[in-house]
Amino acid sequence: MKPKKQTEAIRTQVTVSGSKEHAVPMFLTSSFVFDDAEEMRAAFADEIERPIYSRFSNPNVDEFVEKMCKLEGTEAGYATASGMAAVFGTFAALLKSGDQILSCRSVFGATHTVFTKIFPKWNITAIYADIDKPESWESLLTPDVKMIYVETPTNPGVEIIDLEWLGAFAKKHNLLLVVDNCFATPLLQQPKKFGADLIIHSATKFIDGQGRVMGGVVLGPKNLIKEIYAFCRSTGPALSPFNAWVLSKSLETLDVRMERHCSNAFQLAQWLEKRKEDISMIRYPFLPSHPHYGIAKKQMSAGGAIVTFELKGGAERGKRFLDAVKMLSLTANLGDTRSIVSHPASTTHAKLSEEERAAVGITPGMVRISAGLEHVDDIIADVEQALNASR
Ligand SMILES: Cc1ncc(COP(=O)(O)O)c(C=O)c1O
Repeated sequence: MKPKKQTEAIRTQVTVSGSKEHAVPMFLTSSFVFDDAEEMRAAFADEIERPIYSRFSNPNVDEFVEKMCKLEGTEAGYATASGMAAVFGTFAALLKSGDQILSCRSVFGATHTVFTKIFPKWNITAIYADIDKPESWESLLTPDVKMIYVETPTNPGVEIIDLEWLGAFAKKHNLLLVVDNCFATPLLQQPKKFGADLIIHSATKFIDGQGRVMGGVVLGPKNLIKEIYAFCRSTGPALSPFNAWVLSKSLETLDVRMERHCSNAFQLAQWLEKRKEDISMIRYPFLPSHPHYGIAKKQMSAGGAIVTFELKGGAERGKRFLDAVKMLSLTANLGDTRSIVSHPASTTHAKLSEEERAAVGITPGMVRISAGLEHVDDIIADVEQALNASR
């Protein structure tokens, strides 16, 4: 019987050394030695597979990638120093001047900056489609569109895109489909099942899960990963072996952490939904009031850790709420053991203009909570006292 992926995430390990260690050692080395000139020549000529230099590959990085491939069900992968390095490296490796990316408006702030401020320098542009109007997507296609790029659930609006529909759309138009699966993790959603060609993760979030190291990974078929690898091998966004060691060990607890993240977030969302006097809108994928609830139920096994809501009282109330919070951390991250509260309009999405923020669904009083692993009663108690104090 093939082991379950939760087991693979725990039991996949690089070859054990003569010391018979139980946990994997750290391969903190920049390069690897060869027995003779012929072996070195063959390694550089790609005739044999073995580590050469840690910008190309490293046993800790390879172990992390192998676990991620098993979790997402892909053939190959390349790990990077951050999620954004994976996003940028994927586009830069696969697109050329004149190409276009079809995306949806609600993408992570830095991805939006790459689309609007960085790639136009090389004549690569993004076209934004409306997530709620799938019938309009066809009319946006041009002969230059080569790739579709989406996040689902989106950051910070927690909108859901129908991956089944999108996979069929990409196939019909022969477009590469790239999905940022950061919010769901491979344990809640596997985009490959719906036809995604490449899957990207910011490993900094739930994969590390303890707010310690940065990392990213792109996963997919060997032929595409080969191109991304070739680009990254020469341009240098490789994941450090130390971070890979941390991230690989973290994968061993991802399943149990996600269970608690999801149950805490769901209970918080249900509690918040009843606070009609304080909240004008709440988004959590597994709340039946979410506009994409049916799609979320179809493609995700749980609703994730992120709850987003709009406070009655706009930006001023949002600020007061953040100032009143006692236990939740005010920090620019998510997916940590510690619950985190943030105000996207003044932080992650502050570089966007007011109109751009509105276009990606970020309202002035929008608050995002990443539910951590503390006891849910304590998370709710802190949110409750901050709601009362911010009135
Ligand atoms: C959905 C999503 N994609 C990509 C990134 C970028 O990841 P990193 O911060 O590891 O570069 C983030 C970071 O918050 C994110 O939320």
